[in-house]
Amino acid sequence: MYLGIDLGTSSVKLLLMDRKGVVKKTVSNDYPITYLNDNWAEQNPEDWWNATFDGIKNILKDEDRSALNGISFSGQMHGLVILDEIDQVIRPAILWCDQRTEEECKEMNSLEWLYDITGNQALTGFTAPKILWLKKNEPNNFKKIKKIMLPKDYIAYKLSGVHGIDVSDASGTLMLNVEKREWSKEVVEFLDIDERCLGKVFESYEVIGKIKESVSNELEISKEVNIVMGGGDQAVGAVGVGAIEEGVISLALGTSGVIFSPSKRYLRDEDCRLHSFCDSTGKYHQMGVILSASGAFKWWVEEVNNSKDYVEFNRMANEIKAGSEGLYFLPYLIGERTPHNDASAKGSFIGLSLNHGKKHMTRSVMEGVAYALRDSFELLKEMGIGCEKIRVSGGGAKSQVWKQIFADVLNKDIITINTAEGPALGAAILASVGSREYSSVEEACQKIIKEVEVTKPSLKNVEIYEKNYSIFKEMYPALKEIYRKI
Ligand code: XUL
Repeated sequence: MYLGIDLGTSSVKLLLMDRKGVVKKTVSNDYPITYLNDNWAEQNPEDWWNATFDGIKNILKDEDRSALNGISFSGQMHGLVILDEIDQVIRPAILWCDQRTEEECKEMNSLEWLYDITGNQALTGFTAPKILWLKKNEPNNFKKIKKIMLPKDYIAYKLSGVHGIDVSDASGTLMLNVEKREWSKEVVEFLDIDERCLGKVFESYEVIGKIKESVSNELEISKEVNIVMGGGDQAVGAVGVGAIEEGVISLALGTSGVIFSPSKRYLRDEDCRLHSFCDSTGKYHQMGVILSASGAFKWWVEEVNNSKDYVEFNRMANEIKAGSEGLYFLPYLIGERTPHNDASAKGSFIGLSLNHGKKHMTRSVMEGVAYALRDSFELLKEMGIGCEKIRVSGGGAKSQVWKQIFADVLNKDIITINTAEGPALGAAILASVGSREYSSVEEACQKIIKEVEVTKPSLKNVEIYEKNYSIFKEMYPALKEIYRKI
């Protein structure tokens, strides 16, 4: 048995997979996020640990305990976790969606060498600008730092006692020389930190050690259980949908929305709109990220409409024709990353009239997310990167209406695979590869992941969306300055 732990933004999801890749059981535990000052977001690493530990206890039945061979991870990326000399968490983790570091990003982006070394530009979500923010704004906490980690690495550390990080997640710190897959001395020096504070860099499928004796006793599992490093949620999610070859793109509709395009070679977007990171199979990838995808839909259903009835909201969206009768939604509810890189961007309904009601607004939220992700597909095209197929995962992949909207807006087949588990399954696969159940991630994916359904574009809707997308593209530039003022 292999255990995949996906440490997400709103919950941790655990998945138990047998050696043939069959999912036996999943368990999930929620934890809160604290939003401060409009667009800051923090979480308590102890909450992650308690939810994970409780999840492991719950998912393992007696017979599974003795059969467990390996554990690995997928994690929300970029979050800054800092520990002091006695391994205590110094302050709450600053998360990937936190926007407090606009100034620090400007400062880092003025470094001439930054792009050459990291292949990326500083974005508010990334970890390095958060460290710089801390140095300026919380100097006492900065001085106490002895270990710097990303969220899933904190859990790996608690389970194994090994302070490690994998190349995919390390890419998103902006402290990695992505091409060489090693920490960048230049960035470390610029941030004024000791390289020993950063963990040892592993590939995602490498074993970092065995489970700690104290933890194996408490969980009543073998001391021989392998802890395998795992990776950032997008790279591991791509493993979980088998998007590991060039041309097969992963579309992940979680809180954020991501397109992930694997590549054998290290490629960079000269304008830095797409991220260029290491992947979880020993190669690289390009990635476009919008900050609110299923998150925007959840906001609409739960916060605005005070409902949890997603079936009903999907039904409403389905009753409205493509284009929502001229209503548009910009999903920049917590600023935006790709392609605008603008922490001040805001969510907006545009084009409201008396003809519109809740049903139109529901559909336009889904369409707005699809248009926003099409921006990233256009950037891939500009870089000459092909897209043969798109495999979808995440909460949004449960919605047939939304999948059809994506197929129509992107004019591509949207493929659903045999499991909807994405990153949690990817993590279990990495645990199995690290434990030598399979010879490579590629072999494991080939055996475990199967395509089960294709959502094809409807030509009539493709035409409508082509026209509407060109209007959508004009909206952000027109509103950019207004967003800054409000
Ligand atoms: C990727 C990214 C998201 C978060 C949250 O760069 O920020 O994938 O990890 O899921």
